Amino acid sequence: MRLNRSWLFVPGDSERKLAKGPDNPADALILDLEDAVSDDRQEIAREMTRDFLKAHPDRSRQELWVRINPLDTPLSLPDLVAVMPGAPDGIVLPKVYSAADVNSLATMLSALETREGLELGSTRILCVATETAQSLLTFHTYLDNVSSRLTALTWGGEDLAAALGASTNRHPDTGDYDTPFQLAKTLCLTTARAIDAQPVGVVFVDFRDLEGLEKECQRDRHSGFIGKIAIHPAQSEVINRAFTPTDDEVAHAKRVIAVFEDNPGLGTVGLDGKMLDMPHLKQARNLMALVEQFSG
Ligand code: COA
Ligand code: MG
Repeated sequence: MRLNRSWLFVPGDSERKLAKGPDNPADALILDLEDAVSDDRQEIAREMTRDFLKAHPDRSRQELWVRINPLDTPLSLPDLVAVMPGAPDGIVLPKVYSAADVNSLATMLSALETREGLELGSTRILCVATETAQSLLTFHTYLDNVSSRLTALTWGGEDLAAALGASTNRHPDTGDYDTPFQLAKTLCLTTARAIDAQPVGVVFVDFRDLEGLEKECQRDRHSGFIGKIAIHPAQSEVINRAFTPTDDEVAHAKRVIAVFEDNPGLGTVGLDGKMLDMPHLKQARNLMALVEQFSG
């Protein structure tokens, strides 16, 4: 499974911003047909997005995904019909209620891939898993036969605040996400890991604060997230750096792997006066797998 560190949102109806996408270091662009596009520009956004996809068929450095409108609006199906001729790498699905939405989208994608002569199952899905009140109560549905197209989950705190009737998603004293949003983050991470999908960190909306972004990336990474959604071109580089293992981390992981290889048959070994066992070996191997992904 290919992992992306930075996923940059680009409004699907903005010629200027679309033109900036290919030179941006983001591992993936998310061409947006939803909230970044006003109602009267939906049709033009679909056309521009399809044309952009067709004009950029080489996705080896940067994948091209499309965020469609929610499935419970009449906009989503025309969005898909319009963009599938451009063979997007994946679809970002907002405002889901449960895994049933992901599976409905998967069925539509099968029909459209067949129509377009694309490989069946090749279009992946990233779902924004926490934008409705219902979504927080239905995470268990992902454990039961969700489409294998679902390769990544992220969460959202903005729409969720509106859905919960909250005037802010921040705790008044600490400035951190308040408890319902911490829950959303935790459920997103846990569910993604449970189904072997990529857990992607939430948008950092204060796009001038790159230091704050860097801090939040480190926190996300320590929690287990891989990568983060960006809304401004300057955020991609910070995100890429933060989610690329450092030289020190790589050196340490190599030593951990080596010490187990040098002691075959042992489940527990010592290194630098500390005990290492299987979870440490697993973490070291995970880190080396990330290095392999991101060095290409
Ligand atoms: N993708 C590509 N280019 C972008 C961009 C993006 N997401 N955001 C800004 N740019 C471009 C701008 O057009 C500008 O280039 P220009 O001078 O040639 O026009 C340059 O980068 C610098 O932009 P800046 O002036 O710093 O920001 P802004 O005030 O123009 O835009 C936002 C701020 C938030 C409106 C803009 O970043 C944006 O549209 N982000 C995406 C929003 C989105 O998709 N939201 C939905 C998901 S939550
Ligand atoms: Mg939104």
